[in-house]
Amino acid sequence: MSELAVNATDLHKTYSMGKVPLHVLRGVSFSVKKGEFVCIVGASGSGKSTLLHLVGLVDKADKGRIFLDGTDIGKLPNRRRNRMRCGEVGFVFQFYHLLPELTVMENTLLPSMVDSSAVGWVGRRRHRRTQAAKLLERLGLGERLKHRPKELSGGERQRVAIARAMINSPGLLLADEPTGNLDSKTGGRILDLLRRFNQETGQTIVMVTHDSALASQADRVLHLLDGRLNG
Ligand SMILES: Nc1ncnc2c1ncn2[C@@H]1O[C@H](COP(=O)(O)OP(=O)(O)O)[C@@H](O)[C@H]1O
Ligand SMILES: [Mg+2]
Repeated sequence: MSELAVNATDLHKTYSMGKVPLHVLRGVSFSVKKGEFVCIVGASGSGKSTLLHLVGLVDKADKGRIFLDGTDIGKLPNRRRNRMRCGEVGFVFQFYHLLPELTVMENTLLPSMVDSSAVGWVGRRRHRRTQAAKLLERLGLGERLKHRPKELSGGERQRVAIARAMINSPGLLLADEPTGNLDSKTGGRILDLLRRFNQETGQTIVMVTHDSALASQADRVLHLLDGRLNG
C-alpha cells in the first residue's frame, strides 16, 4: 500500500492533427496523498482534461509514468487496466454523460455492471441496488430513482453522475469541471458534496477547473500552464 493515491512523473502528451503537432503536456509531475482534495486550475485548452484522462486510465501518455496507489498503470495488461478504471477510479464529467434511456438508478449502477462477471451477478445486483439507493438518497435524489435524465435539472444530473462515479467506492475520484455547466449556486452545492465525501470517507479527489475561485475548496491548488504544473 502506498501513501500516495497518485504519483505522476514527467508526463508528455502530443496530439498530431494536421501538420503542426500540439505538445499539450510537457513534463507534468505531481503527487496526491491519500485523502487529499487537490484542485488543478488551468485556462481552457491548457490540457486539464488530457491530464485527467491519463490519470483515469481513459488515455495513455506518450512518455512518463503514473502510479495509482503504488501500481504502475503503464505496465498493466488491458484487462487489469479496465478493471482498475471501473473499480478503483470514479470519473465525473462536465457534461454528465448519462445515458438518456436509462433511469437514475440504472445510470448509477452502470459501472458496477461492467465490473461484474456473470457468475453471482443476480445475487450481487440486489446488494448493489440497495447501495445505489442509499447513495442517491444521500445525494438528495431519493425521490428520483425512476426518472430519466431529461426529467432532471442540471444539478440533479450532475449528482447522478457523482453517484455513478461513487458506486464502486473508488479510492480516487476524478472530476473534470464538475460545476462548469451549472449556475454558481448549484455548482456550489456540488462542490460542497464533493468536499463532504472527501472529509467523511477520506476519498481522494482530484478536480480540474478553469475557475480559480472554485479551487478555494481544495486542500491544495496546482496550476497547469504551458504544459507544466506548478504549485
Ligand atoms: N483528441 C484530441 N486530438 C487533437 N487535439 C486534442 C485532442 N484532445 C484535446 N486536444 C487539444 O489539446 C488541447 C488541450 O485540450 P484539453 O485537455 O481538452 O484542455 P482543457 O481541458 O484544459 O480545456 C486543446 O488545444 C485541444 O484542442
Ligand atoms: Mg477540459
